[in-house]
Amino acid sequence: MKLGARPSASIGPEKMSRAGGAGPRHVAIIMDGNGRWARAHGLPRAEGHRRGVEAVRRTIAAARELGIEAVTIYSFSSENWSRPAAEIGELMSLLKRFIRSDLRDLHTKNVRVRIIGERHPSDNEVQALLEEAEELTRHNTGLNLTVAFNYGGRNEILRAARKLAAEIAAGRLEASQISEQDLAGALDTADLPPLDLVIRTSGEQRLSNFLLWQSAYAELVFLPVLWPDFDRSWLEQALAEYARRDRRFGGLDPTER
Ligand code: IPE
Ligand code: IPE
Ligand code: MG
Repeated sequence: MKLGARPSASIGPEKMSRAGGAGPRHVAIIMDGNGRWARAHGLPRAEGHRRGVEAVRRTIAAARELGIEAVTIYSFSSENWSRPAAEIGELMSLLKRFIRSDLRDLHTKNVRVRIIGERHPSDNEVQALLEEAEELTRHNTGLNLTVAFNYGGRNEILRAARKLAAEIAAGRLEASQISEQDLAGALDTADLPPLDLVIRTSGEQRLSNFLLWQSAYAELVFLPVLWPDFDRSWLEQALAEYARRDRRFGGLDPTER
């Protein structure tokens, strides 16, 4: 499919039957392509990021309508600090503006906001707003919206390893007894449902350090759309693709047993 081509409305009869299966509980999205969108429209990169925020709003609305339990969005990676200071500043102020303008509305809609990633001292205002969002929505029971900020999958696993090492040092845990559940429970995503689907926009086909542990058996869907153009129809296309996949988890398809 060409970049930017609209998803086809029909997914075909043989695929329809499978699309009726259980949908993903937890969808993670690598929102990529803001810069390329801006370049394609002859606009500064910052405008691509601003239009990306609109796509975030559309995605949250669509996820609620479609009854998805948890959505995790990659908003700023631990590697994105290597971008020019002006672009980092723009991304930080967009995040702050988004929380200031949308937090009340998200709360009204019963959305629970969580933040994953390493707390970063560079911008106290961002940290304070992120913590306010978590605190205000802590008891909400609707969509679980997780924002990955200053997030890196390797860093998350490293911090989990440190927590377990501290437990061992304190005599509360035996090294030989550490289980996968212990490690998963020490990750930032401990309270979230298992990850079912990772969507990346822009055509790039890599994880870029996103949810490395959690994506071990997630389905990966790469869409030929730049993030600012993402909307409900693209999300539905990803869900339809997910429904067509055989998730085997190392076992056999039930029909072959
Ligand atoms: C995604 O768009 C936003 C962030 C990574 C913060 P990009 O800024 O990576 O856009 P491209 O990849 O340059 O098109
Ligand atoms: C991944 O996109 C990070 C986010 C979407 C926040 P990047 O654009 O930073 O990833 P690379 O550099 O293409 O791998
Ligand atoms: Mg990119």
